[in-house]
Order: sequence, then structure tokens, then C-alpha cells
Amino acid sequence: MAFHPTPRQYGAIRALLFLLALVPLGRMVYLTLSGQLVEPLEFITRGTGDWTLYFLCITLAVTPLRRLSKWNWLIKLRRMLGLYVFFYAALHFTTFLWFDHFFDVQEMWADVLKRPFITVGFVAFVLLIPLAVTSSNAMVRRLGGKQWQWLHRLVYVIAPLGILHFWWMKAGKHNFTQPIIFGLVVAVLLGVRVVWSRRKAREARALAPAQAGGAACCGGGCRS
Ligand code: HEM
Repeated sequence: MAFHPTPRQYGAIRALLFLLALVPLGRMVYLTLSGQLVEPLEFITRGTGDWTLYFLCITLAVTPLRRLSKWNWLIKLRRMLGLYVFFYAALHFTTFLWFDHFFDVQEMWADVLKRPFITVGFVAFVLLIPLAVTSSNAMVRRLGGKQWQWLHRLVYVIAPLGILHFWWMKAGKHNFTQPIIFGLVVAVLLGVRVVWSRRKAREARALAPAQAGGAACCGGGCRS
């Protein structure tokens, strides 16, 4: 079904999505301040980790959704969703630095290096930083489209690291159901991109000789 929102409708969709993305944070703050939680610190650390992963999956789903629905305007929402991945990851990291180490950076480093699941999460977070920093139009122009695209392929590393982090954390409790589900979701979302981009490259290669032939023909003074 074709749906092309007017600029006004698009603005409303964007604003709604912006506010919806803040609901998980609002809920965490509300439940904590109203004293309804038995383990508020654990709830917040885990909740922000969960929402980092959810937004990562939602952001990765934009391109396949756009292609399947032909709703090209969806792509304009991807940047905001990607920034929410970083936002929740930064909150997740801050809660770890605050609640687990009370802002003692040296102690935090020791923990990052000691526990492999934290090491992996930390690397994923560090890799998210250049993506967040280069998300503006000005940075796309400054880097150039090709370089920007290459840099943003880091998501192919970040997403599996996020899953590995989650997997490792749950491994201690022999509870693999959720990591398996999210692992499959991420594999499908990244897999379809690989398949589509290979197909595009194949089609471009197939077209290249024909175009080169045409150019050679025209270069030789052909007027067809
Ligand atoms: C892309 C980056 C990251 C993602 C996607 C992510 C995701 C997650 C997820 C899904 C959980 C499990 C929540 C649950 O139990 O429901 C979690 C837990 C956790 N993560 Fe992360 N995380 C990331 C980065 C980090 C970083 C940078 C740190 C710290 C340096 C970190 C430290 C932790 C800790 C301490 C827990 C809780 C462990 C526990 O309660 O036993 N994570 N994370």
C-alpha cells in the first residue's frame, strides 16, 4: 500500500516517534522515583541495555522495511532512531560507571578488562561514537558519501558485538532464549542487506560492459 505523507504528516510522525522513544526512559525514571522497584539500579542498567538493543534492531529494520513497502520517506527517520541507539547506550554505560563504580574511572577500566562481556559491550559502545558524531548532514558532506557509507558499515560489527555481550551475560545463568531470538533478528536484518547489496553490485557489473561498449561506440563517432 503506497503511503506518502505530506510534510505536515511526516513532521507529526517524526515528533510522535521522538516522544515514543523517550517513553522507556520516562517509565524507568517513574518506577524508580515512585519506589516501586526492589532493585532499581539493576532495573535501570538492564533496561537501558535492553533498549539499546531494541533501537539497534529497529534502526536496522528501516532499510528492509523501506524496500519492501516502497515507503522511501522511512529512510529519513533512520538517523533519529540511530541516535536513540547511542542515547540509550550512553545511558547504559553511564549507569554502569555510576552504579557499579561510582565514577571511579580506574576501577571501571579494571572491570572492563576483567569481564569479557563488559569488554565486548564497551567496544560496541566505543564504535557507536563515530557513527553518532558523523550523523549530521554537515558531516556527511564533509566525509563524502562513499567514506560516510564505509564508516557506517561499522554497524555490521557493532550489532554482533551487542548480541555477543548479551549472550555472554546470559551464559552465566544458562539462559540463552533471548540472545538466540535477538541473534536471529540481527542476522536476518544484516543478512538481507548483504544479499541486496551483492545483487546490486552484480547488476552494476552486468551493466558496465554494455555501458562501456556504448561509450566506446560514441567515442568512435557513432550517432545512434
Ligand atoms: C551497543 C552496546 C551495548 C548493548 C547493545 C548492550 C546490551 C545489553 C543488554 C541487552 C543487557 C541485558 C539486559 C537484560 O538483562 O535484560 C546488558 C546488560 C549489561 N550491560 Fe550492556 N550493552 C551495551 C554496552 C555496554 C557497555 C558499554 C557496558 C559497560 C561498559 C555494559 C554493561 C552492562 C552491564 C553491567 C549489564 C548488566 C549485567 C547484569 O545485570 O548482570 N553494556 N547490556
